[in-house]
Amino acid sequence: MSWQNKVNLGLQQRHTAEAYRHRSINEVGSGRFITVDGKRYLNFSGNDYLGLSQHPAVIRAWQQGAEKYGVGSGGSGHVTGHTRAHQVLEESLAHWLGYSRALLFISGYAANQAVLAALLDKSDHILADRLSHASLLEAASLSPAQLRRFAHNDVGMLANLLEKTQAGQTLVISEGVFSMDGDMAPLLQLHTLTQQHGAWLLVDDAHGIGVIGEQGRGSCWQQSVQPEILIITFGKSFGVSGAAVLCSDDVAEYLIQFARHLIYSTAMPPAQACAISASLREIQEGDELRQRLQQNMLCFQSSISKQWLGVMPSKTPIQPLIVGENQRALNLSASLRRAGIWGTAIRPPTVPEGSARLRMTITASHQSEDIERLSEVLNDACH
Ligand SMILES: Cc1ncc(COP(=O)(O)O)c(C=O)c1O
Repeated sequence: MSWQNKVNLGLQQRHTAEAYRHRSINEVGSGRFITVDGKRYLNFSGNDYLGLSQHPAVIRAWQQGAEKYGVGSGGSGHVTGHTRAHQVLEESLAHWLGYSRALLFISGYAANQAVLAALLDKSDHILADRLSHASLLEAASLSPAQLRRFAHNDVGMLANLLEKTQAGQTLVISEGVFSMDGDMAPLLQLHTLTQQHGAWLLVDDAHGIGVIGEQGRGSCWQQSVQPEILIITFGKSFGVSGAAVLCSDDVAEYLIQFARHLIYSTAMPPAQACAISASLREIQEGDELRQRLQQNMLCFQSSISKQWLGVMPSKTPIQPLIVGENQRALNLSASLRRAGIWGTAIRPPTVPEGSARLRMTITASHQSEDIERLSEVLNDACH
């Protein structure tokens, strides 16, 4: 098939499946409000769970960092791009989360790809939760290791697979908080199993870090688990972007030698590292923000009608309403928009076929009247 035919067919398939993606241009803001096509919307779709993308101390840290270092890092961290600002952030993160080392990456996507590509060989095995993020599953299927998926949070199935996996080494992969369902992994059980079988555990806690556990140290800390590899990202509760891999000294040194996403890519701007450090301080002192977030989540759960059968019993900022068909999710998203609320429809292949949903995200920036308005509009739409 020619590339032109491939392009035409791909676009046509997306239209037919009601899965065509559009980008909207957001003129202002990424916090409580966004402005699209001149209209202001209450934002219930972002991942800025603590509202730190708009925090004056974080904005100031970025500005001051840019004045000190300029706007770009000027090269790979292996050449001239690793500055004092990067080093300070790496050391603070490692100390905060109880690891020997932290290594910065420009995104969570890059971090997941880099770690799996550097670590895995043909004789290795990956056992991944079926609902793990696309960046993990894609990296796993591109790697030479043998990939098997276990049913979501199914510890029994994982135990069976570990029993059957003999030769080579095994990496078990899960998220701390699942990005599309908002539920949490049984990390203690996963960790115990991996320990019993001499396997390693990798946890991507993109959605748990900052909002869960003491000082926002995340899902692993809350469940008293230290996986061999912990991935955290800065585009969610930190309100910025980028990621870090937390690991042992040896693994960090190995990644510095062999992780191609580190070696052949420009390091994140130092000013961004300054902003992430400022965000980290806000997170460490952020009990009040986390309490507000908790209250908002409880308020949403208690005000949404029981007729909404697809509401997940989520204890995290991710509050999905599973509606099934793509067109229904699109219609609901459009009804919200008419009422001045931004709630994006999430459709396959991002989520499994037949489980299209509105992925509502509750943040600490929302006021109680915002949540009441959201519930009112959703409850009306339910009839
Ligand atoms: C669980 C998880 N891991 C990784 C990523 C990718 O992170 P980033 O946006 O920093 O590339 C995401 C992004 O949505 C995510 O939800």
